[in-house]
Amino acid sequence: MRVVVTGASGGIGGALVRLAKSRGDFVIGISRRRSEADVHYQCDVLDLKCLEGAARDAGPVDGLAILHGHGDPSIWNKSVEDLNERDFTEVFRIDVVGAFNVVKAFLGNLKPGSSIVFAASTPALVGDIYGMPYAAAKGALLALAKSLAKALRGVRVNAVALGPIATRWTSWIAEEELRRFEERTLMGRLGLPEEAAEAIYWLLSPASSYVTGQALIVDGGESL
Ligand SMILES: NC(=O)c1ccc[n+]([C@@H]2O[C@H](COP(=O)([O-])OP(=O)(O)OC[C@H]3O[C@@H](n4cnc5c(N)ncnc54)[C@H](OP(=O)(O)O)[C@@H]3O)[C@@H](O)[C@H]2O)c1
Repeated sequence: MRVVVTGASGGIGGALVRLAKSRGDFVIGISRRRSEADVHYQCDVLDLKCLEGAARDAGPVDGLAILHGHGDPSIWNKSVEDLNERDFTEVFRIDVVGAFNVVKAFLGNLKPGSSIVFAASTPALVGDIYGMPYAAAKGALLALAKSLAKALRGVRVNAVALGPIATRWTSWIAEEELRRFEERTLMGRLGLPEEAAEAIYWLLSPASSYVTGQALIVDGGESL
């Protein structure tokens, strides 16, 4: 396959880049920092011109793995009283508008039968009092995936609803709280970026050729 991966410099995106390359795929990476992709474009997902430039070079692709995510922990653990408009607009801009920008920029590159995968999160399904703007943005991403699946008939569009995966994200969480995260999963541990990447790869690949408009929950049973 020839695939585009956003968030390629990140924990889960990086794991997907390595997995796809190990299976002989050609990977086009996108993030502000560099990645291990075969070719990399240092684009901000809010910079449509940069994304369009990458798309002009990229040629036909079999899939887009849209895995970038707002990474500022300052929006976490805020009460309803403390949350403000900016907390929401920042996450929505990067996670939702940024994801749409990537789809729009690469629309002409998508081959018939190709696949788009978004990185959502279990709070989109069950809510979360610690990261309300994040949960709301990931919920919007699920709705966007379903809407695009209907709009782009023939191009499959799905999402992964990830539980706690050990990346930079979980390094911000206090030890004691991390133990609680682990206990909430049925596997008794955090997921590995490589485990998330395997699920994303399945949705990207023809192995999931009749699956579209779905959210695949990859959370070690946390949300049950
Ligand atoms: N880890 C978890 O527990 C978990 C759970 C549920 C869902 N998720 C989701 O999974 C995805 C990947 O998470 P991760 O854990 O791998 O996080 P990560 O290591 O922090 O990676 C985030 C990626 O997003 C990119 N990014 C952020 N803002 C960007 C922007 N404005 N323009 C371009 N790229 C941008 C970063 O690249 P640059 O900084 O180089 O631009 C980085 O590659 C995210 O969507 C996250 O919400 C993660």
